Amino acid sequence: MLAGRYNPVRLLLTMDAPLKIENLTKDYGHLRAVDDVSFDIKEGEIFGLLGPNGAGKTSIISIITTLEEPTSGSASVFGYDVAKQPKEAKYLTGCVPQELVHHGFFSLEEVLAIHSGYYGRWNNQERIEYLIEKLDLKRHRKKRVKELSGGMKRRLLIAKALVHEPKLLLLDEPTAGVDIELRATLWDFCRELQKTGVSILLTTHYLEEAEALCDRVLFLDHGKLKLLGEPKQLINELTEREVVMILKDPVPPVQHPHLISQTDHQLIFRFASSKSMGDLIAELPLDIRGIQDFIIREGKLEHAFERIICKSHEY
Ligand SMILES: Nc1ncnc2c1ncn2[C@@H]1O[C@H](COP(=O)(O)OP(=O)(O)O)[C@@H](O)[C@H]1O
Ligand SMILES: [Mg+2]
Repeated sequence: MLAGRYNPVRLLLTMDAPLKIENLTKDYGHLRAVDDVSFDIKEGEIFGLLGPNGAGKTSIISIITTLEEPTSGSASVFGYDVAKQPKEAKYLTGCVPQELVHHGFFSLEEVLAIHSGYYGRWNNQERIEYLIEKLDLKRHRKKRVKELSGGMKRRLLIAKALVHEPKLLLLDEPTAGVDIELRATLWDFCRELQKTGVSILLTTHYLEEAEALCDRVLFLDHGKLKLLGEPKQLINELTEREVVMILKDPVPPVQHPHLISQTDHQLIFRFASSKSMGDLIAELPLDIRGIQDFIIREGKLEHAFERIICKSHEY
């Protein structure tokens, strides 16, 4: 019998990208759910797969976990093509599915032990304890899964996905319908996993969370890749910021191309997020000492996406 420290994941690791999606297309009958999508994820990266309902996010994840077969193109995990070497790819991947899966009869800790065994990790108590602690599941460890609340089931699924120490974690809408506390715990935990070199692909509807958490994001619409980049860079390139200048005293009418409104005590400007405040102020015929305060509303990832969707619908 192999020793408890035996870890197949370590033996399988390669220098290839944790995830590489190449020209992936998925048809369900006449519906093209994923349309020639390519991207890859770097080691230790948190990558957001974003897009409205029906955009094709879960279909991509289902192909990576081999629940669905691609119509064409490929997905590989650390260089292992999921269609040709599914076993290797599975050892390296952990997945938290969008839909809750039921293991009603078993207790929470039994589910984790059974799942460990499934990956050949029989002596894995240390890892299980770590996950129970991190996901705040201690008080519930003896409960049967059917007795757990929705939020606790979600925590269990996350622990289950991580029990074999995968190097690629797929999270499909992990925070949909869960409370703020779990969302915060989960994102903190993602950052901690990232530090240990785990790469994470997540889908979410909460664009503000994606903006704060993800190193890069990809936006899908009707199965097509619309946008890919770092949130900061996309916001800079595609959105506008609004600046409200609160004035101590009224000033004469200001002429400036970015001015959208002027009242006695405030001037409102809207301009590209890439333009600096310093440049704006330098262009104004104002004494800076006459400015009481600024309110700055930064562009958001959501606005970058809206812009791209509107643009593509114009054609
Ligand atoms: N098993 C399936 N059979 C037929 N159509 C499907 C199936 N799974 C998903 N679809 C359709 O494919 C499209 C993409 O779905 P999905 O990948 O679940 O998107 P998302 O996760 O972004 O909401 C949707 O139009 C959905 O109705
Ligand atoms: Mg989905």
